[in-house]
Amino acid sequence: MHETTKHDATKPRSHEATKHEATKHEATKHEATKHEPMKTSLLALALLALAADAPEATVRYRQSVMKTLAAQMTAMSLISKHEMTPSGERLILHAATAAEFSRDLEKLFPPSTRNIRSGALPKIWTSGADFAAHAKKLESETVKLESLARSGMTTAFGKQLEAVGAACKSCHDSYRQQD
Ligand code: HEC
Repeated sequence: MHETTKHDATKPRSHEATKHEATKHEATKHEATKHEPMKTSLLALALLALAADAPEATVRYRQSVMKTLAAQMTAMSLISKHEMTPSGERLILHAATAAEFSRDLEKLFPPSTRNIRSGALPKIWTSGADFAAHAKKLESETVKLESLARSGMTTAFGKQLEAVGAACKSCHDSYRQQD
């Protein structure tokens, strides 16, 4: 996705862009094709490309992804508290977006970014498997959230939204610089 953005700026009709559209198309069929091999390999390619990117850009990119996640959480929380009553499809869209951007979150923290000033604590890169486990926890909680969203706004959805929030907080408590 990142690779495509860079490409788009110079060559909007590039091969990359075409591939990207294919990926987006897959994403709309998300439920049916979640573990579809083609999609997985495109994603793996995108993440490989990420490792070769400038560390500064990777830091800004991951902060944007975090803000994307935060925006979905705010939107879903407004719906969950019945302050907003958009159609059920929007709830699914927010939950699916959270699930998509939660996938492989740990890969946005390559060791090359270790010395760039950011909110990421250095112990991310000495934690062994623990940091990745926190990322995987968010991934599984958001996948559950997405499937509940498909049943509409229910009490179970509200509870699961809290579980997702707890997964964000748990990682932040350990690995994010406190303000
Ligand atoms: C696996 C650990 C982990 C999980 C899970 C996680 N975060 Fe983060 N988050 C971080 C780290 C580390 C930073 C600091 C990143 C940086 O500054 O480069 C961060 C930064 C942020 C930021 C600040 C971005 C900025 O502009 O600098 C926001 C907002 C945020 N996270 C929201 C969320 C939300 C919402 C969730 C859950 C849906 C979440 N995060 C889940 C580790 C995590």
